[in-house]
Amino acid sequence: MSAGFPRNADASAATLATLPPALRQSLFITGTDTAVGKTWAAVRLLQAWARSGHRAAGMKPVAAGATLTPEGPRNDDALALLAAANVPIPYALCNPLCLPRPTSPHLAAREAGIDINLDLIARPFHTIASQSDLIAVEGAGGWLTPLTPTLTMADLAIRLNLPILLVIGIRLGCLNHALLTAQAITGTGLKLAAWLPTPIDPHFPDHDAYVETLTQRLPAPRVHLPHF
Ligand SMILES: Nc1ncnc2c1ncn2[C@@H]1O[C@H](COP(=O)(O)OP(=O)(O)O)[C@@H](O)[C@H]1O
Ligand SMILES: [Mg+2]
Repeated sequence: MSAGFPRNADASAATLATLPPALRQSLFITGTDTAVGKTWAAVRLLQAWARSGHRAAGMKPVAAGATLTPEGPRNDDALALLAAANVPIPYALCNPLCLPRPTSPHLAAREAGIDINLDLIARPFHTIASQSDLIAVEGAGGWLTPLTPTLTMADLAIRLNLPILLVIGIRLGCLNHALLTAQAITGTGLKLAAWLPTPIDPHFPDHDAYVETLTQRLPAPRVHLPHF
């Protein structure tokens, strides 16, 4: 990643300044669960970075669940990240491990006869990084989602050595999931850069009280993402 930012300095400074400092850096996006808003957050982050004049790239290193196309298997999250980014990278760099069945990656990989190792992800990540200013890497599932019999998503985040954005889908049960996940992240030594609440349950009556509870207890700033 080039540290020196933009080609279009005035516009970039203006737009990037609308983002909280925690979001002005490459991030690994994890969540309290699957379907809590990780892709939603990654897409908005990429849009914000791209609009600020930065070279923004997305990566979904491991995806479980794919559609077969004439170009090969394609995962919806990876396609969404590619569409939101402004660095044109080949699909295989964005999503080096595209596993057919939507289940835990360690099971989907075993079924597909694929041995996941972190080099298969770190190499494309560094290739993307050499062409980008900012990268949003979306995990699969949650923080300890198994990748192999021994590795989890956390090992991948450690290998990429990125600060973490924790997406929290606000619903019954999320406080425990959020606090456990935050504890696990900080326990690795990685930085919990920020957390983002997503209103995924429109009928949940305690949304605001839960967000307030998390604001009091999580050791990182709460952020929101503008819509572009
Ligand atoms: N901030 C949000 N506000 C409203 N709905 C959201 C928000 N974030 C996510 N969702 C909805 O929640 C569902 C899961 O989001 P997604 O980003 O695909 O989750 P994940 O990537 O964690 O599996 C989608 O239907 C999405 O539209
Ligand atoms: Mg997703």
